[in-house]
Amino acid sequence: MTDVTTTTTDPVYVTEALIAEDIEAYLEQHQHKTMLRFITCGSVDDGKSTLIGRLLYDSKMIFEDQLAALETDSKKVGTQGQEIDFALLVDGLAAEREQGITIDVAYRFFNTEKRKFIVADCPGHEQYTRNMVTGASTADLAVILIDARKGVLVQTRRHSYLCHLIGIRNIVLAVNKMDLVGYDQATFDAIVKDYAAFARSIGIESFTAMPISGFKGDNITTRSAQTPWYQGPTLIEHLESVEVITSRDADKPFRLPVQWVNRPNLDFRGFSGLIASGTVKPGEAVRVLPSGKTSTVTRVVTLDGDLDEGVAGQSVTLCFADEIDCSRGDVIAIADQPPQSADQFETTLVWLNDEPLHVGRAYWLKLGAQTVSATVQQPKYAVNVNTMEHVAVKTLELNAIGVAQIIADKAIVFEPYADNRTLGGFVLIDKITNATVAAGMIQFALRRAQNVHWQPTDVTRADHARLKNQSPKVLWFTGLSGAGKSTIANEVEKRLNVMNRHTFLLDGDNVRHGLNKDLGFTEADRIENIRRVGEVAKLMADAGLIVLTAFISPFRAEREMVRAMLPEGEFVEVFVDTPLEVAEARDVKGLYKKARSGDLKNFTGIDSPYEPPLNPEIRVNTAEMTAEQAAEHIIRQLMPWK
Ligand code: ADX
Repeated sequence: MTDVTTTTTDPVYVTEALIAEDIEAYLEQHQHKTMLRFITCGSVDDGKSTLIGRLLYDSKMIFEDQLAALETDSKKVGTQGQEIDFALLVDGLAAEREQGITIDVAYRFFNTEKRKFIVADCPGHEQYTRNMVTGASTADLAVILIDARKGVLVQTRRHSYLCHLIGIRNIVLAVNKMDLVGYDQATFDAIVKDYAAFARSIGIESFTAMPISGFKGDNITTRSAQTPWYQGPTLIEHLESVEVITSRDADKPFRLPVQWVNRPNLDFRGFSGLIASGTVKPGEAVRVLPSGKTSTVTRVVTLDGDLDEGVAGQSVTLCFADEIDCSRGDVIAIADQPPQSADQFETTLVWLNDEPLHVGRAYWLKLGAQTVSATVQQPKYAVNVNTMEHVAVKTLELNAIGVAQIIADKAIVFEPYADNRTLGGFVLIDKITNATVAAGMIQFALRRAQNVHWQPTDVTRADHARLKNQSPKVLWFTGLSGAGKSTIANEVEKRLNVMNRHTFLLDGDNVRHGLNKDLGFTEADRIENIRRVGEVAKLMADAGLIVLTAFISPFRAEREMVRAMLPEGEFVEVFVDTPLEVAEARDVKGLYKKARSGDLKNFTGIDSPYEPPLNPEIRVNTAEMTAEQAAEHIIRQLMPWK
């Protein structure tokens, strides 16, 4: 057979939109065929390119013109055609177009008489963990390639661990380059034994091993005469016949995350989405989560007409007998076996961003169509992906995998990832940059807050404010150490006091003597410092006060978090925009000197960052005016107020 590597192995980079179109095209042409998405893991050295080239070539079904088109298009998308937008590609990780991660994953299409295939081909090195996770997130099967001369390597373990973690239950151990070891059965058996021991240790229950040669074509599409001792299927036979994960999902309880409410006219109201698990028939009782309302399914509608039964993996629109509330983000489930909902979880996170995890920072957590605000606690441990060891860590860096608890601001409907990839997998999104920073898997819910309910009170925040005859406000002073925050805030408070306003000043140095005396100046501690101060300021505003806070509060994300905690217009960001040179020249507390000499670490402006406000309500610069003038300016800016 010809070696086709050179003609078919150029990476083809495509977009999700194009994949969708191609899937459509495939579906039309090969309606009766099922689809298998798989991922190949290994490096060039293992013969991965040769293997993929052979699969494509032997199937002879690749659409050359389409590939050319896709290639051109992806060049428009990425730099030098080498990168594609993660978000465009990966429906499994539910990332969105604007979230700006680029990743190298090449998707290729081919099909045989029996099946259609999409193969995700990702680089295998450790620094490409996020790419592998991306490719694996939608895969039903993984082909783990091993060079027969080398046996089970560190990277074999890493790839297997990641595939298992992402929930791929069909693993093929392809022992490649058998021609180079003389098709020796003992070599093959030893590798399989070695791998089996490892697989068991990480929870892989079963795998299919086969001796192949991508280069010579042994046991790829035709059974090899060189391995009479091997009785199993060829690679392609296996790929054609292996049970796709969704057929197993059909046996689980029915769940459909609602993507959108379909209401073309007053006579029709349906709820559309992809069935994540189970089956649904007209006449069945269903429950909408999180409201818990029940109804009966009247129709299961698709573009091709009504179905007698909808099955996991199908996109359908459900109609109900009753007009119950149900909207995007809700989950429709079988009435007597609904999924759980919770706001605290133990999760496994794969960190995808160059910027490491900020413990305590609020990120968007997106699970299917549900989005909530959530903070990540300090990781319990990270996993060394080469040795599977648990390592104590304070944060997660790019490509790190760790276990951490997450606290969301409201409950989401979910299932453990091991039971349901759709309802257990989520992404974390940076609120400021909109980047997808992590992919996560829910292990289980924590029951901590389960029995704590919000207690309504009769005297409302409006009553408090009315009695004080003022509108509550939080005047949030931010700026470098020594910028003049405390001095100016003090001047402002004096003026408000004279004006009969009820105020309270929360000052960084003071709060750190009491409430926050357990906190230092690491990034995580500063985030927690501001979170607590934000909560206190909010309570004080609820009590009707005008609150002034004077904290460096160096990070935009936390200032925005406090803003979001308060009613519109109540948070007033006051940027005390004093240049570093001026603050340092003053050095009232002698701290800059210490920081410069190295005696004080993590000092803002010196070896710890300050992110200036982009759009503060008020800006003052003490190099240009006195503290009194700044205070006057601030009071004027706040006028007129009630
Ligand atoms: S914040 O970054 O967490 O908002 P905060 O305003 O509470 O800081 O405290 C800042 C004050 O702590 C400074 O004005 C300074 O007096 C003192 N301080 C001590 N160590 C540091 C440090 N490493 N960086 C900044 N301020 C420090």
